[in-house]
Amino acid sequence: MSIAKPIPQHIAIIMDGNGRWAKLRGKDRTEGHIAGVETIRTTLRIAAQRGVRYLTFYAFSTENWGRPEAEVNALMDLLCRSVINETPELIRMGICVRTIGDRSRFSERVQQHLAQIEEQTAAGDRLTMVLALNYSSRDELRRAVQELARRVEAGTLQASQIDETCISEMLDTAFMPDPDLVIRTSGEQRLSNFLMWQASYAEFYFPEVLWPDFTEEEFDRALDVYAARDRRFGLVK
Ligand code: IPE
Ligand code: IPE
Ligand code: MG
Repeated sequence: MSIAKPIPQHIAIIMDGNGRWAKLRGKDRTEGHIAGVETIRTTLRIAAQRGVRYLTFYAFSTENWGRPEAEVNALMDLLCRSVINETPELIRMGICVRTIGDRSRFSERVQQHLAQIEEQTAAGDRLTMVLALNYSSRDELRRAVQELARRVEAGTLQASQIDETCISEMLDTAFMPDPDLVIRTSGEQRLSNFLMWQASYAEFYFPEVLWPDFTEEEFDRALDVYAARDRRFGLVK
């Protein structure tokens, strides 16, 4: 009798290396982002097949606004256009799209598109794809703390009532479980302000491969690495 290997319920991915992928080929960085979007598409399909329930993609950090304006615009345009074009296919696949991050910095038009996509895909119950857009962990915590302080000020919450659950529920990620596995491609081994609260007990995996080269084989390798980990959560096992 074979024992089924544990599949992470939630995988969060720091998609890194698009720029280096393009540079290696003598191409513009934007070409790397275009190739990266293709990898999102394939990863989504494979993750759904393997039984993953939540897949979060770090697509744009609050720090990424500091990149050249042309790259920021190209990236934003690419992300929006891809999700809009893919919506019918996402619905067909049973994928529900959500975003985390502060959307208020985006144009009215982009905000409307995102709201529409979330609404149109809301019934998808196979896998939830979460796009982290204008997201950073510290900014998310800042917004959450501000909201909690507002409630204390208004007298609807007592400071002593603020526990870990209360904080988790105030974060953008309140609708989903914490990530079981965080993958960062391109060999970099840092969080870059991503899900710091939520990744407290996640397993980490840092493959060398650049994001556009993250294939089905690479994804399955990540699942194997995860399955071999011994998650103890501070207990004696
Ligand atoms: C990750 O690739 C994609 C985003 C940050 C949106 P990079 O653009 O950071 O690629 P490198 O790190 O420069 O290779
Ligand atoms: C992290 O990648 C952000 C995203 C993948 C969206 P970066 O390439 O921006 O991070 P650093 O600058 O290497 O830390
Ligand atoms: Mg990078």
